[in-house]
Amino acid sequence: MHHLFTSAILSLIIFLSSTAHLQAVEICQYFSCNKHRHDTIQFPFRVPRNQTIRCGYPGFDLSCNSNGGTLLKLPSSNSSDPLVVQGIDYSYQLLWISDPKKCVPNRILNMDLNLTGSPYGLGPDSAEYSFLNCTNDNLGDPNSPIPGGTSVVSCLSGGNFTVVVTAEKVLEEKMVGDLKCEMIKRVVAPLWWPEFGYGSYPDDMSDIFIQLSWDIPGCRDCVIRGGSCGFAGDSGLSVGCFLSGGNGGLPLSVKYGLILGAGIPGLVCMIGLTFYISGRVRAYHQHRRHVNSEVSPAIYPQPIILTMGLDGPTIESYPKTILGESRRLPKPSDGTCPICLSEYEPNETLRSIPECNHYFHADCIDEWLRMNATCPLCRNSPQKSSS
Ligand SMILES: *[C@@H]1O[C@H](CO)[C@@H](O)[C@H](O)[C@H]1NC(C)=O
Ligand SMILES: *[C@@H]1O[C@H](CO)[C@@H](O)[C@H](O)[C@H]1NC(C)=O
Ligand SMILES: *[C@@H]1O[C@H](CO)[C@@H](O)[C@H](O)[C@H]1NC(C)=O
Ligand SMILES: *[C@@H]1O[C@H](CO)[C@@H](O)[C@H](O)[C@H]1NC(C)=O
Ligand SMILES: *[C@@H]1O[C@H](CO)[C@@H](O)[C@H](O)[C@H]1NC(C)=O
Repeated sequence: MHHLFTSAILSLIIFLSSTAHLQAVEICQYFSCNKHRHDTIQFPFRVPRNQTIRCGYPGFDLSCNSNGGTLLKLPSSNSSDPLVVQGIDYSYQLLWISDPKKCVPNRILNMDLNLTGSPYGLGPDSAEYSFLNCTNDNLGDPNSPIPGGTSVVSCLSGGNFTVVVTAEKVLEEKMVGDLKCEMIKRVVAPLWWPEFGYGSYPDDMSDIFIQLSWDIPGCRDCVIRGGSCGFAGDSGLSVGCFLSGGNGGLPLSVKYGLILGAGIPGLVCMIGLTFYISGRVRAYHQHRRHVNSEVSPAIYPQPIILTMGLDGPTIESYPKTILGESRRLPKPSDGTCPICLSEYEPNETLRSIPECNHYFHADCIDEWLRMNATCPLCRNSPQKSSS
């Protein structure tokens, strides 16, 4: 008798929580404009043509061009040319864009990088740059015309003048004074190029990147924990974190909601029912002076799993490498562990994720994989590919 009751309650709870799953959020698939590349577009970004409205945050719309490129149009830009998205870092909330006409300084000088009305701000590596117009006669030797710490802008230069850019005040003064260059403009710009962090300038600053950042919606913590960010509900702008296996699951807020909404009333129900049933059972069995011990094992609702990582044996099955003296690793790895950001040293033990061949310190990645089943770099799920 009581088994019937308890299983009915259990099914009710399972039913309630599964419908809550369905109602809570729409799970958006990662999207890419280029089927051959892993550059995923995910929340807060969205391609309106291919994804539904709740897959992205307002203002973060992107589009695809016919070559598989990802395009960004700034609302206050007076150029009809959209910018090309080169990369998005979801954990630092940064994006890198380039100019399809391969002349980023042209956009900067024409004030065509107007971020008004967009969710973006200038990236953290912004600096003040001086653009100078030097006549080639004054530059002298064409093979070593300008001092280091400067770059030419070939796309803005002409037959007898060269546009030069520098972020160093000393060099600016030197070029205006000694080389009689004419100051075009001094402007704070988020220019970025691959060697940026090493302090060296590219020879030519025409085809470089612009680095933008965004603050809202704040998904950093979620992404760093291996979750995927998304809207917490069917309407409104509140954002939640989905933390299970990387390709779905529920935002934390919804999970807590479930625990509070279904779990606690369920528990109260169950305790009441347990008392009721045990009362009945006790009455029924009184003459035998035997209380059925099966009544109490409580029928707690299934604990809701908040994170889903990999188990020890699975992690151990991923290839380990002891780094040699040459410290050489296959592409696309560079010499730094993306998790702890320290450089690999000879004889250190590294582990790679089979699916994507990304390397990490074994200690760092093991800890990560125990909590998250995805590669922290590319979000591939090794679990999926190995099973
Ligand atoms: C996006 O949608 C357009 C039009 O609906 C379609 O032609 C295109 O193939 C889609 N792109 C991808 C990558 O699915
Ligand atoms: C940027 O765009 C806004 C709105 O279109 C405009 O009001 C503002 O003057 C522009 N700023 C610059 C520096 O062009
Ligand atoms: C773009 O707009 C700004 C002001 O909003 C203006 O100063 C600038 O000349 C415009 N650039 C072009 C290329 O039209
Ligand atoms: C640089 O100066 C020359 C004249 O020396 C001029 O013709 C040219 O338009 C200037 N270029 C820029 C980008 O200001
Ligand atoms: C170079 O500048 C001179 C004037 O300083 C001008 O007469 C000449 O046409 C320019 N040459 C080119 C190729 O623009």
